[in-house]
Amino acid sequence: MELGHNIHHIPFEVFDSADDLAADEQALLATALKASTGAYAPFSHFQVGCAVQFADGSIMTGNNQENPAFPSSLCAERTVLYYAGAQGLTAGVRKLAVRAQSLDKHIGSPVTPCGACRQVMLETERQAGTDLVVLMQGLDGKVLRVVGVAKSLLPFGFDIAF
Ligand code: THU
Repeated sequence: MELGHNIHHIPFEVFDSADDLAADEQALLATALKASTGAYAPFSHFQVGCAVQFADGSIMTGNNQENPAFPSSLCAERTVLYYAGAQGLTAGVRKLAVRAQSLDKHIGSPVTPCGACRQVMLETERQAGTDLVVLMQGLDGKVLRVVGVAKSLLPFGFDIAF
């Protein structure tokens, strides 16, 4: 690392709608929205769905699971990534799509994952051995697309070799 002031460039793409994406990414975003409807979110009324695409094209989904002891809740992204891990499938993860909707208000813009989920995505990316594509789409249609968790979502993430 160089001394003094450095600038970290964060690459990202923005699309007006999912129509401009490849067919598999459009399908992944649609699947994530569908998954959000199954969230257990009686406290926040904020339903999040995350769809994960594997190298073989298969898809696994998760959604947020809440608890009256609030910190015991789990975000959609970690729900599905830890489930993939429990199945021994983490190395095959290639793409993630995140969609959200609130029962109380209109969430038009893409929802970007929380810090804890980015840290888990970073470890998934390390296990996958390749940059992960992360797609985020709001209900207004705009899509935020990044390639690389370390490059675009969590620069300076915790990444120690134990
Ligand atoms: N949540 C997610 O599932 N993913 C995110 O990226 C952000 C937040 C959940 C956690 C909680 O159940 C609700 O949304 C409100 O924060």
